[in-house]
Amino acid sequence: MKQRSNFGSKIGAILVAAGSAVGLGNIWRFPTEAGNNGGGAFLIIYIICVLAVCIPLLLAEFLIGRHSHANTGSAYKILSPNKHWGFIGKIEVCGAFLILSYYSVVAGWTLFYMVQSLLNQFNSMAKHSGSEQIFSDNFNNFVSNPWQPLLCLAAFLLITHFVIVKGVKGGIEKSAKLLMPFLFVLLVVLMVCSLSTQGAAKGLEFLLAPDFSKINSKVVMAAMAQSFYSMSLGMGCMCTYASYFSDRTDITKTALTVGVIDTLVAVMAGVVIFPAVFSVAGLSPDAGPSLVFIALPNVFQMALGGIPVLAYVCSLAFYILLVVATLTSTISLHEVITAFLSETRNMSRKRAAALVTAGCLVLGTLCSLSMGVLADFKIAGMSIFDLFDYVTAKLMLLAAGFFTSIFTGWVLQQKIIKYELTNGGMLKFRWFKLLIFLLRFVVPVAIALVFLDGIGILSIF
Ligand code: TRP
Repeated sequence: MKQRSNFGSKIGAILVAAGSAVGLGNIWRFPTEAGNNGGGAFLIIYIICVLAVCIPLLLAEFLIGRHSHANTGSAYKILSPNKHWGFIGKIEVCGAFLILSYYSVVAGWTLFYMVQSLLNQFNSMAKHSGSEQIFSDNFNNFVSNPWQPLLCLAAFLLITHFVIVKGVKGGIEKSAKLLMPFLFVLLVVLMVCSLSTQGAAKGLEFLLAPDFSKINSKVVMAAMAQSFYSMSLGMGCMCTYASYFSDRTDITKTALTVGVIDTLVAVMAGVVIFPAVFSVAGLSPDAGPSLVFIALPNVFQMALGGIPVLAYVCSLAFYILLVVATLTSTISLHEVITAFLSETRNMSRKRAAALVTAGCLVLGTLCSLSMGVLADFKIAGMSIFDLFDYVTAKLMLLAAGFFTSIFTGWVLQQKIIKYELTNGGMLKFRWFKLLIFLLRFVVPVAIALVFLDGIGILSIF
């Protein structure tokens, strides 16, 4: 058997997994969801979802990956007693391919905005009256332009490709060890700047003050779906990474640390965004692209405009932060498919990576053009971009997560689970019964509810 690569250190294992988890989801979705859905109350529900649903599933992905020492596409088949369960891995690899294709489009946008920040273009845009319209035009003109976003998409995919080709240790682990601490430093600097604006108290209140009256079943579903996406579950990223963990890595500790880092970064992103937003009169917190690409570039200039250097530095730091967070996530998605192709189709890693990059470029181009030239082309009422998001985040990811929990809780031999959680008896694991209970009952039911909610069935009742 071919010798597989390993991550060289325990901290490397934590950082790559955290790198996958921390991404656009933390920065443009979590803060607004929390703010609009009860602040601290949402956070409490979110943390419960992380502990009761995401950590057990993360452990399941980790132990499947490490025990099989194989790519996700093969791992389930190797561990499945009757080989039927291999389909989970196949869904995950296909899902990762689709997610990477549309995620890279947005990744390209972050690159474009980083360059605009670098050239200090936002400063002059903010000087005009009616600057909101100017920023909105800036974004809409860019995404509907036929070639600019495509160039950015290609650039981002090439950077990801370059890291993947450098290998598991020299590319993925090294980049995570460099980028994750950098990301943390950027976040802290940005937090300090944002908290020095006059909207600090109001922003923190919006993000954190608990309002339990806003909590209903819809909010619980939203928290669960968000935690799931944010922890990169259901697409084989964590399973593939775990196949490179060493035998000495404590997967329980790693899973808990990743959960803490991911949640912390999401909250910190909120502490960066809302104080600044609330210090500009008349702005209301939005989510998604319009928050990050329309409101925020303006907000940084207005909130910190008194000291132009500070506005410049913060704006640049924020878009570098987005690029870094996104890059460590695209790397993890790319690796899922590259590892699968190179290990099952008997091709070199380089060649497999080139195929993945080329494939994503083609699908990503379609997604990107669906914001402009192809805007009128709709499938089931959705643009290609939205369709990719819907099919992956609302269907495939949840299906794979559901079957992973069923497979681990009901099918997989328990001695394998025990072996992996204790590193063959070297570590203590006191929560075995609880974990099995969660994987057998709580996780599948929770995911099924989110699934039914996502396709609109729950709202009938
Ligand atoms: N978790 C990342 C984010 O928050 C995105 C991501 C990377 C992802 N890999 C994934 C989401 C696998 C779902 C599945 O932006």
